[in-house]
Amino acid sequence: MAEVSLLIHDLDAAVSPAGTGPLRGEKFGELRIHSPASIAVSGDRIVAVGPPDAVRRQMPAGTDHESLDGRGKTALPGLIDCHTHPAFLGDRAAEFELRSSGAGYEEIHGSGGGIRSTVTATRAGSEEDLLSAVERHLGWMLEHGTTTAEAKSGYGLDRETELKSLRAIRAAEHRSPVDVHPTFLGAHTVPPEFDGAPEYVEFVIQEVLPEAAPLAKSADVFLERGSFEAPEAKRYLEACRGYGLALRLHADQFSERGAIPLAIELGARSVDHLEATGEEGARLLAKSDVAAVLLPSCGLFLDLPLPPARLLADEGAIVALATDFNPGSSFCESLPLVMNLACTRLVLSPAEALCACTANAAHVLGLEDVGRLAPGYRADVLILDAPDWRHVAYHLSGDRFAAKIKSGRVL
Ligand code: NIG
Ligand code: FE
Repeated sequence: MAEVSLLIHDLDAAVSPAGTGPLRGEKFGELRIHSPASIAVSGDRIVAVGPPDAVRRQMPAGTDHESLDGRGKTALPGLIDCHTHPAFLGDRAAEFELRSSGAGYEEIHGSGGGIRSTVTATRAGSEEDLLSAVERHLGWMLEHGTTTAEAKSGYGLDRETELKSLRAIRAAEHRSPVDVHPTFLGAHTVPPEFDGAPEYVEFVIQEVLPEAAPLAKSADVFLERGSFEAPEAKRYLEACRGYGLALRLHADQFSERGAIPLAIELGARSVDHLEATGEEGARLLAKSDVAAVLLPSCGLFLDLPLPPARLLADEGAIVALATDFNPGSSFCESLPLVMNLACTRLVLSPAEALCACTANAAHVLGLEDVGRLAPGYRADVLILDAPDWRHVAYHLSGDRFAAKIKSGRVL
């Protein structure tokens, strides 16, 4: 075994998704639990997880290392938030109040508010303002146990602000312990200076995408009434794929309009939302390799119908969970809360919820070395101040972490 730099010893348990890759079908929710357990770390990697005696026996004798006492505590992999929108300025508190007195989210969007009001606020700020905002939002996520986060642009919708957003997202990664996966959401909605969605999509493809693509790893589109229909989404996603970006879709949030067949045709990584997905669409998605990303804090925030989570899981879909952190539809950065909602409202088990925001979320981001506590994986470890790992989902707004370890470093 390589020289150990950190030993987390005598934990009540270390809990991880089993196997490798995404877990679906009968394997969804399969955990590898060591109880009691120690975890040995060398540099930024896990080198051993198992019974304390066995881990000690494998360690080279006499080396100096940092120790964390795990008694009374449980270890989990760092959480992975595979769908977030942290690159925005301003807030939507006034819109929140309007909605509290009965105004609908789509109604506000249709009359030029909603996403477009955040676009106005975001365009008015500097790149440094955006960088500070993304850094602050990543800090909030980390407090709740997120060690890897996807981060979308999409509140610029002009060349300058989309590029500024992506540069801010990339720069924020150097200021935060959280690993960031940038996504170009150039097709979030049609900005006010354009008459139609097809014209705007051509503008994005010609004028923004060539410079945005090298700054991003994935591309995303909002396929929904009032934003983009399937033909425009297809044109945009195909162009993005041409630049080597992985593809994601926001879809079936309010209405089904062909997103699932399109995502399968294009080999997209995921379709996210799915609150309006019917049985046929759910079965089709479940049989494909396109992941279903569920966003229950958005459903709660907007009081949406529940997505067919149980059907998706039972039919074998790759199910992931995320916060959808954004100022309008899910002002929530807590994956433990999302896990709680998955258990209380989507009828997933705590073990399924854990797989959905670790191993399966890693798969959505194309990452193979995070989301598990196993040798060779990045040493992103949460130490839960509870004797039973299920407290992470059970303790509503608890987030009781005794320690967080990111890439082998105790934060
Ligand atoms: O995922 N649905 C589209 N986009 C975001 C919301 C954006 C906003 O309201 O600012 C979402 O819900
Ligand atoms: Fe979203």
